[in-house]
Amino acid sequence: MSAARTASFRRYLMCPPTYFRVTYSINPWMDPAKPVDPALALFQWEDLRDRYRSLGHAVEILQPLPGLPDMVFAANGATVVDGRVFGARFANIERRAEAPAHRDWFLSRGYSHVHDPQHINEGEGDFAVTDSWLLAGKGFRSSPLSHSELQEYFGRPVIGLELTDPHFYHLDTALCVLSGDEIMYHPDAFSPGSRSVLRRLFPDALVATRDDALAFGLNCVSDGRNVLVPAAAKGLLKPLRERGFEPLTVDMSELHKAGGSVKCCTMELRD
Ligand code: ARG
Repeated sequence: MSAARTASFRRYLMCPPTYFRVTYSINPWMDPAKPVDPALALFQWEDLRDRYRSLGHAVEILQPLPGLPDMVFAANGATVVDGRVFGARFANIERRAEAPAHRDWFLSRGYSHVHDPQHINEGEGDFAVTDSWLLAGKGFRSSPLSHSELQEYFGRPVIGLELTDPHFYHLDTALCVLSGDEIMYHPDAFSPGSRSVLRRLFPDALVATRDDALAFGLNCVSDGRNVLVPAAAKGLLKPLRERGFEPLTVDMSELHKAGGSVKCCTMELRD
């Protein structure tokens, strides 16, 4: 067992699933023929929000908009580092209007650096922040061109990673930053070259099985100590504990019907 970890205070942005439904399909998880229980989705979302607050974190709320059923996945709306906001530009027409809604929120909250991106990127869905790097996914949603735009804006080295399995269409479905430069990921979600890059940069990473990844086990949120883990990803609990983390399970099964879980519902405001 490693020594216990220390949590650090976080600020998150979340958007309630008021209009959450599966009315179109833009990833293999989404089946519009399968019914969604909006009341259950709201219950699960509120539970996640309350967990963050009971851990002492701040949760800001973005007002949901009718006609944008995926807006609950707030992580896709921007990437915030050092109080600077790199806006999103969605790949699919169905979600395009979410980007200006996020942008307006940041402007109304007094953020003075809000970048309107030139290239397609889906915020923290494809961008992950470690102490040393910005990890950037491509292959399904974010354009490879967004990677250099990201590096230029934040002045941090960007490591581009190629996603190859449509079930893991966003980086945050295949990789999670636990603390500092520590990550967990599912290697088979990546191209062979990207897998080698990950092995080289993160030799001690927690490697997740396909079953845990398919249970959205990598779509976690960590505060450096507490890790909110989708409940079905049982295989991750022991290895997380062995590393000194405190895994806390949450049931996000209703949101899984749209291909998202804990992390997708949570944007971190790194002010
Ligand atoms: N239905 C949404 C989409 O396909 C899910 C987004 C999940 N968000 C995430 N950060 N992975 O765009």
